[in-house]
Amino acid sequence: MTIHATLPKAELHLHIEGTLEPELILELAARNNITLPHPTLAELRAQYEFTDLQSFLDLYYANMAVLITEADFADMTRAYLRRAQAAGVRHAEIMFDPQAHLGRGIPLTTAVGGIESALAGSEAEFGITTGLIAAFLRDETEESALAVLDELLAAEAPIIGIGLDSAEVGNPPSKFIRLFRRAREAGLRLVAHAGEEGDASYVSDALDLLGAERIDHGIRAIEDAALVKRLAADQVPLTVCPLSNVRLRAVDTLAAHPLPQMLSSGLNVCVNSDDPAYFGGYVEQNFASLVAEFGFGTDILERLAGNSIRSSFAADARKAELL
Ligand code: ADE
Ligand code: ZN
Repeated sequence: MTIHATLPKAELHLHIEGTLEPELILELAARNNITLPHPTLAELRAQYEFTDLQSFLDLYYANMAVLITEADFADMTRAYLRRAQAAGVRHAEIMFDPQAHLGRGIPLTTAVGGIESALAGSEAEFGITTGLIAAFLRDETEESALAVLDELLAAEAPIIGIGLDSAEVGNPPSKFIRLFRRAREAGLRLVAHAGEEGDASYVSDALDLLGAERIDHGIRAIEDAALVKRLAADQVPLTVCPLSNVRLRAVDTLAAHPLPQMLSSGLNVCVNSDDPAYFGGYVEQNFASLVAEFGFGTDILERLAGNSIRSSFAADARKAELL
């Protein structure tokens, strides 16, 4: 096995709904008597050409229609953990989109219960410790997010933190100041997508206005030299997703990806798969593409894997075990 598949690593930027493989979508549709607009594997697969973030989000949300029961959520989560184990992932912090399920009439208890039932057995079954992060849809209102956060807290949902995802441009961090304040007061960890399609100000605002401890993507930070200096000085973790950025046209080609420049600027970057069922690969394929494109050697691969573990919210003892 290649070193990038065996290096112990943490996956910190992963949407569990983005691990729903086309085969599982069809299986769940059949199980739940759902007629899909693209009912065959070939027709469904033909939809996976994206021009930007929104074109992906449209398919990603539509495909969630097959997730109905706790067992559906559990099967999806277990399938991810099995693949992650093969990729050398030893700790995973997994996002889910509660509002996307509530909006389809699926109760929070079904989504959380199903995902959590798979996560509960993860360490014993796959050797992967886990944490669950509730990601809020930035194209919905802050009131909606606050209501869902309150519901999660009232239900004592087993979440370690909150995130912010979905359509970035036009939905800046300033929209969610109260949400992040309430989550912080509840003792939750804070992450936010920023600088994927949005410019560098989305990254600095996520830090300054939301208190985000970790930035998901952050690639457009590279356009602001002062911000790069700050991110390097503070070693702010950036969960970069190279194959996602190529497939969503955030960068023109992998060769044009800023990751090498981010590394040479001293930034705390790690490599993640984002929505692997949609973007052509799990975390080991992201590593493999970087090796093929940039010729990264063992030193850089170890640095990226080490950053992922150090940047996780795992207990210190677990980090020490993995480093
Ligand atoms: N939801 C799932 N994947 C996402 C991404 N890459 N950016 C924003 N929202 C998302
Ligand atoms: Zn993401």
